[in-house]
Amino acid sequence: MRNEFVSCSFLLLLFVSLATGNVAASHMDDDDGVLLLPRQKEDGHPSSHMGMHMAMGMDKDDILNPAAKVFATIKDIVVGKTMPIYFPCIENPTTYQFLPDQKTHHIPLSSEHLPELLRFFSFSLDSHQALAMKQTLKICEMEAPKGEAQGCVTSLESLVDFAESIFGPDSQVGVVRSSLISKSTPVLQNYTVVEFKEISTGKLIACHNEPYPYAVYYCHFQWGTVNKVFMVSLVGENGDELNAVFLCHMDTSSWSTGHIGFRLLGLMPGESEICHFFPAYDMVVVP
Ligand SMILES: *[C@@H]1O[C@H](CO)[C@@H](O)[C@H](O)[C@H]1NC(C)=O
Repeated sequence: MRNEFVSCSFLLLLFVSLATGNVAASHMDDDDGVLLLPRQKEDGHPSSHMGMHMAMGMDKDDILNPAAKVFATIKDIVVGKTMPIYFPCIENPTTYQFLPDQKTHHIPLSSEHLPELLRFFSFSLDSHQALAMKQTLKICEMEAPKGEAQGCVTSLESLVDFAESIFGPDSQVGVVRSSLISKSTPVLQNYTVVEFKEISTGKLIACHNEPYPYAVYYCHFQWGTVNKVFMVSLVGENGDELNAVFLCHMDTSSWSTGHIGFRLLGLMPGESEICHFFPAYDMVVVP
């Protein structure tokens, strides 16, 4: 609610080439050092940026969660087709933008340093911010499963380094994100496909924003998997337009039958690709 500088604008399509010096996220030029965690919603529900985590969960009741309405297949992406889709409204986009590297590179991103980090950010041990930081650090420190690469990035520079370690040095690195929805746009409503285009096939890195006092993205990549990314232009029932990132996992044969995507779409592993729309705070990194 506080910072409205890009909040709730439509058609903010960020498809930029980091290598040419454009940046996906503008820098927060505060010199007063105020770094705020995304706030919990007053009603006690997890804040909206947790939506995807809930949607990717495996709980039996998850399919009733409106935030799970992000799954579809490529067949669903037909001009003129209408379907309900959930897009969280982001109240403070600055929380999701990288700080300049020189501001964060000296701050340790490690559980070992949690006590001093909490002191640095003035969060008490039992605050929800402390819990969120603890969980984020745990995610960042997870061991990558075989055949996967993962890690947390806290700046554009570290994002490009991570991407180059996978795509190869000197590769052009592009970032795609969904546009923001307006505060007056229902988070779940019917959208009609206006237009779509495929952006990339093959190697891609998915990066998810994790709650932290500054922008931290957990990025992961799987060797040997085929993915497709589409940019889909949608118009909502209320007339709002947005461009959404639509990521398809082409081979689902090794996925668990209980995956929420299968249950929502009534499909079985390997029967079809599973795709999902990305919320605006997450990003897909492509060569
Ligand atoms: C979408 O449209 C269908 C058919 O008109 C309707 O039944 C459904 O309630 C709508 N969904 C939402 C989320 O508005």
